[in-house]
Amino acid sequence: MGVASPSKTTPFLASGRATRPAVEALKAGKPSHEQIQNGILRRAAPITLSNQCLKCHVPDRKSTEDRKAGLIISIPVAER
Ligand code: HEC
Repeated sequence: MGVASPSKTTPFLASGRATRPAVEALKAGKPSHEQIQNGILRRAAPITLSNQCLKCHVPDRKSTEDRKAGLIISIPVAER
């Protein structure tokens, strides 16, 4: 998993593992997005990174405003 570090222009940045449909769903205001692929459930949901978090997660930030990041949680599931 990875915390995407979103820029100002892209509030939800797709990390290498985020899928385009998940990013689009979150941008459209959905609370979360789930998909199962190759036996892995991936749930994407937005989290807020406040300034205290950003000092590590976006060290080159240019402002101290809160930012949204997409957090992807992957869980192996049995497919039937
Ligand atoms: C002292 C530096 C530091 C601060 C402050 C910090 N983090 Fe992190 N955070 C890290 C590091 C380092 C990792 C591990 C990165 C990795 O393994 O990919 C991590 C991992 C995470 C992860 C899990 C990423 C993943 O996908 O596995 C989340 C979620 C997260 N941080 C959210 C936050 C939030 C929310 C805050 C503020 C409340 C915060 N962090 C503050 C350094 C920090």
